[in-house]
Amino acid sequence: MSNDKYFEMNRVGWDSRVNTHFDSKFYDVDGFLAGNTSLREIELAELLNVSGRRLLHLQCHFGLDTLSWARKGAICTGVDISPVAIQKARDLATATKLDTEFICSDIYGFERNDVEPFEIVFMSYGAICWLPDLKKWAEIVTSNLEKGGTFYMVEFHPVYDLLAGYSYFSQDVPTVDEENTYTENGTDIVAKLATWAHPLSSVVNALIEVGIQVEKLSEYPYSPYNCFEGMVEREPGRYYLTHRGHDMPIVYSLLGRKTA
Ligand SMILES: C[S@@+](CC[C@H](N)C(=O)[O-])C[C@H]1O[C@@H](n2cnc3c(N)ncnc32)[C@H](O)[C@@H]1O
Repeated sequence: MSNDKYFEMNRVGWDSRVNTHFDSKFYDVDGFLAGNTSLREIELAELLNVSGRRLLHLQCHFGLDTLSWARKGAICTGVDISPVAIQKARDLATATKLDTEFICSDIYGFERNDVEPFEIVFMSYGAICWLPDLKKWAEIVTSNLEKGGTFYMVEFHPVYDLLAGYSYFSQDVPTVDEENTYTENGTDIVAKLATWAHPLSSVVNALIEVGIQVEKLSEYPYSPYNCFEGMVEREPGRYYLTHRGHDMPIVYSLLGRKTA
């Protein structure tokens, strides 16, 4: 099966999840509309000085994080493969009167020749696993970023996948699962989705090879989302998992700068 067919499978799967996610406590759209941020402590502590800067959010889902960066003064563009998600994001931009652009595109097909490159490229939690080719992904990141610009990602740690029974190392053929979604109201939604494993070294090296200088790589024993079975909230908003009595790495983040 070609990657285009897998992307189409994923688009259909993500389209089918959007309305359920929109209505969920997990995403708390009402709280967002009331003024809460959807951003979590890790990215808020690590991606600073966004105000007045042009920010590209890759795989923005229905735009809560994009719009939360916009509320902090960033001039945002969000991109996602799901037209249902992008429509919801545009509706939220209208409802909140935030001047934010949302584009429906597979990120591998995303190109902006009509605007200056972005000052920040951002992506978060559950994004990299939908991308088969990290070399191509890193080229998209760097081609959309101005020289000296900031790349920031915060992502679920691939060691979690290994301990959950999936590959740690990359494989040519993706894993295809039929699964419920992760929001508390998602037990009736079943989507067929294809994911690709990427070890931490492959992510870091793909960025280095396109001229992104890694300034900080962090690993966390907690997730800001209660999204995996067995998680325990030890401190407010920090969900831990243990393996044989030890904390598992659940999240990593990477801050880099385009040097070349
Ligand atoms: C888990 S969500 C993004 C996470 C985000 N932190 C959130 O929860 O709002 C993953 C997103 O990636 C998008 N996606 C998957 N494959 C994509 C691709 N090839 N190009 C663009 N977007 C893609 C999906 O439509 C989905 O909205």
